[in-house]
Amino acid sequence: MLSDLIRLRKPQKADLEFFISWSQDVELRSLMGWEYPKDKTELNRWLFERTQNRERRFFIIEYASQPIGDIELCNIAWRSGQAELKICIADKSYWDQGLGTRSLKIILKEAFTTLGLNEVYLRVYAFNKRAVCCYQKAGFTLKGFLKRKDPNWNEIWLMSLTKVQFEKNQSQIGA
Ligand SMILES: CC(C)(COP(=O)(O)OP(=O)(O)OC[C@H]1O[C@@H](n2cnc3c(N)ncnc32)[C@H](O)[C@@H]1OP(=O)(O)O)[C@@H](O)C(=O)NCCC(=O)NCCS
Repeated sequence: MLSDLIRLRKPQKADLEFFISWSQDVELRSLMGWEYPKDKTELNRWLFERTQNRERRFFIIEYASQPIGDIELCNIAWRSGQAELKICIADKSYWDQGLGTRSLKIILKEAFTTLGLNEVYLRVYAFNKRAVCCYQKAGFTLKGFLKRKDPNWNEIWLMSLTKVQFEKNQSQIGA
């Protein structure tokens, strides 16, 4: 299976070149609602911050040893056991092949088993159907809508998955 070739690993200096090319992609920006820094110095700082922060666990997504995106748990609230999830498979040639779902399953296992968290949540634009479908396949369910200041702004969905539900899903698929 293609998804067997997915691995999550810590970022390295050589990854900067990939982030620089991904930062040029305007479609990614519109899907995520934020963008990678374009400047190398700023990007270096951005990446360093992600590796040094106690409230984050940031990983490069590799497919067959090639970086294709990144995934992270951020805003980790150790006391309540909650964290936010962000993912970007920046190389579009890898979309729709189950690699996002696989990456989510790996990081969710890390969140609930290794880190001992209780709930992982995320925010996603309602129009981003691919992302919503991928999150649902990984077990996330819709919890609500975030109220926007301007009604013309894109609708944002809040989705989450608890450890209890994750384990229930795992036992149902015999994983
Ligand atoms: C969102 C993202 C992580 C998903 O990863 P992926 O590897 O493409 O996802 P998967 O292949 O695991 O699952 C995608 C599913 O969406 C489906 N899909 C694709 N386009 C769709 C659409 N327009 N409407 C409904 N479903 C759609 C695919 O068919 C697939 O479902 P299937 O396996 O049942 O066929 C990845 O596409 C990505 O990083 N996109 C750009 C950044 C982004 O949007 N990040 C999320 C911000 S919240």
